[in-house]
Amino acid sequence: MRGNDKVHKDLSEALKAELTAINQYFLHGKMCEKINIGNNVKAQFESDLALEIHAVKHLNDAIKVATEVGDNASRALFEEILGDEEEHVDYLEGQLHAIDEIGIENYLAQQLHKGDKEDN
Ligand SMILES: [Fe+2]
Repeated sequence: MRGNDKVHKDLSEALKAELTAINQYFLHGKMCEKINIGNNVKAQFESDLALEIHAVKHLNDAIKVATEVGDNASRALFEEILGDEEEHVDYLEGQLHAIDEIGIENYLAQQLHKGDKEDN
């Protein structure tokens, strides 16, 4: 079946957004390995949140277009990805809220403690 050009473009944009996020998270991981990051953790979360919010908006727009042209398979795919992205937004908002509430030093100390539990 030949799909709608706008839906194809939205699928391409969704793929591009996923690849951009993967590259950004990989880069952040490498930065954490190489340097003392301190308050950069908050900046990374803010940058990641902006990326995720952009993806959520795009996916909601793509769902609308796919629905309008009757492409239910693409709509279902966009909805599935949207669910994941909304979870990522919730996670990042939660981490930023925690940083604001307890301060970056306490937040980072909690992350170190988590690592100890995971190793045992
Ligand atoms: Fe995401």
